[in-house]
Amino acid sequence: AMLDILKRAPVVPVLVIENADDAVPLARALVAGGLPALEVTLRTSAALDSIRRITADVPEALVGVGTIMKPADLDTAQEAGARFAVSPGATDALLGAARASGMPFLPGVATASEVMRGLEAGLTVFKAFPAAAIGGPATVAAFGGPFPEARFCPTGGIRSNTAADYLRLPNVVAIGGTWLAPKEKVSAGDWQGIEDLARSAAGLAEH
Ligand code: 3PG
Repeated sequence: AMLDILKRAPVVPVLVIENADDAVPLARALVAGGLPALEVTLRTSAALDSIRRITADVPEALVGVGTIMKPADLDTAQEAGARFAVSPGATDALLGAARASGMPFLPGVATASEVMRGLEAGLTVFKAFPAAAIGGPATVAAFGGPFPEARFCPTGGIRSNTAADYLRLPNVVAIGGTWLAPKEKVSAGDWQGIEDLARSAAGLAEH
């Protein structure tokens, strides 16, 4: 289930891969640094090929697909081998399709009503998005009042210097973000630098 995936590591790198040739060395670096759950966003034409390559060549990685916008994206992702799916939000169509597909699904929520709709759909784990802009750790902590059963993966605007503020909250299982795979490091092939970033993120919390 989604909760077990998020419990594998405190941080889920959100990857925007421009060149599928980068996918395998990037995934290896992140996994070596201690972050096995990876979200490959469907924002580039290289995304699906990247998911296929990581799935084939980096068995230690747990690859999910991000930026899911419509039910068809779930099918495409599942065919490519993705093991979980993430969306910035949640429509009724998407919640229904995710349930039908059986794929662990992490929908985005930004308000109390969205959390309530997710709970009604039978889910208990949500991506709090965009985490920093909706009020940061204070907002996620406040969801704990009315929704003690809900768990969150805050994502959006989190950087290495704010990560710990989210991870110390009792209703946060993990956090996500793009800061682990900076564009400059990826295009320079600085896999060691990325492994080092991953290692310091992996050390942020005991899970
Ligand atoms: C996402 O899709 O989750 C966000 O783009 C991640 O946001 P970040 O770049 O601020 O980490």
